[in-house]
Amino acid sequence: MKAVLIDEITKDLYIGQATDSVCGENELLVRVKATSLNRADLLQREGKYPPPKGESTILGLEMAGIVEQVGEQVTGWEIGERVFALLPGGGYAEKVVIPSKMAMRIPNNISYTDAAAIPEAFLTAYLNLVTLGDLKEKEYVLIHAGASGVGTAAIQLAKEIGAAVIVTAGSKEKLDYCLSLGADFAINYKDGDFSDKVMEITNNQGVDLILDFIGASFWQYNVNSISIDGRWVLIGTLGGNKVSDVNIGAFLAKRIKYMGSTLRTRTPEFKIELTEAFSQFALDKIKVGTIRPVIDKVYNWTDVEEAHNRMKENRNIGKLVLEID
Ligand SMILES: NC(=O)c1ccc[n+]([C@@H]2O[C@H](COP(=O)([O-])OP(=O)(O)OC[C@H]3O[C@@H](n4cnc5c(N)ncnc54)[C@H](OP(=O)(O)O)[C@@H]3O)[C@@H](O)[C@H]2O)c1
Repeated sequence: MKAVLIDEITKDLYIGQATDSVCGENELLVRVKATSLNRADLLQREGKYPPPKGESTILGLEMAGIVEQVGEQVTGWEIGERVFALLPGGGYAEKVVIPSKMAMRIPNNISYTDAAAIPEAFLTAYLNLVTLGDLKEKEYVLIHAGASGVGTAAIQLAKEIGAAVIVTAGSKEKLDYCLSLGADFAINYKDGDFSDKVMEITNNQGVDLILDFIGASFWQYNVNSISIDGRWVLIGTLGGNKVSDVNIGAFLAKRIKYMGSTLRTRTPEFKIELTEAFSQFALDKIKVGTIRPVIDKVYNWTDVEEAHNRMKENRNIGKLVLEID
């Protein structure tokens, strides 16, 4: 099969030949129609985020496609059905094999390109807002990188839960987009310490939950912004991973719950359970359009370098999708 490969020396991406995936007895072999970019792809390409042991070394954490083969033990799936799913890797390819229990059926009114933009962003947002973050109605949530793929999913899920959403982003265009998507308040982090604004918005109570993609550069602002008994989930370190001069007193005084979270390294069983919980929460909402993937741009996979550059330059609002032909 053809797949996007990484030149070992230059790190350039090119379409080349890869070994065909073999369908196991509990798996589906899927012909991929579309896949999406994730920040992790940029890191993996540079050798900084290797795939979990035993998984495909091909980039791509999600896909949408057509079932081409059904494993002998699989029930409930047929050849020709439209399917989308999270992947541990391997999405930038013509074919991929997935555990049948991780497969979601694409609603009739959703295209392959839209479906391919859902799994990683929405399952990450669901895991960290709902499963780990325990976000409840009327609580305040602070979502950083609001216009990112995960951020645009998180805004929508938090609003469905009935929370009040505060986002940060780095341009007026991105802030306006987050507000149009349902965010209640939007702050430009490039103006500096955002915690004064957060405290003003929350009547000096602070936010109940922080979805933190940024890490070090926002550390103290986050400490200042969180409420007593607040939960804080770290899912990325776009602003660095080394914090100096940490005063853990605030963690004690505010009884802060600080959690680190990665989705890719979770077990297949965990991902299956998460996919089922998310499907129950969201698939009907996706069908009627109350929840939707935000697509920045769709590229043919021959233009994968251009898509990666757009993400690298922080220009995307929502997801960048690759069509595979
Ligand atoms: N732990 C997990 O399981 C998991 C799963 C999926 C994704 N993630 C993480 O979630 C984050 C978002 O992923 P994505 O694919 O949705 O990203 P994305 O669409 O590429 O968006 C990332 C955005 O973050 C902002 N940003 C970049 N550097 C920043 C900095 N130093 N300070 C503040 N903002 C910065 C930029 O927007 P502005 O213009 O607003 O600066 C950028 O467009 C990444 O860190 C990714 O690694 C984690």
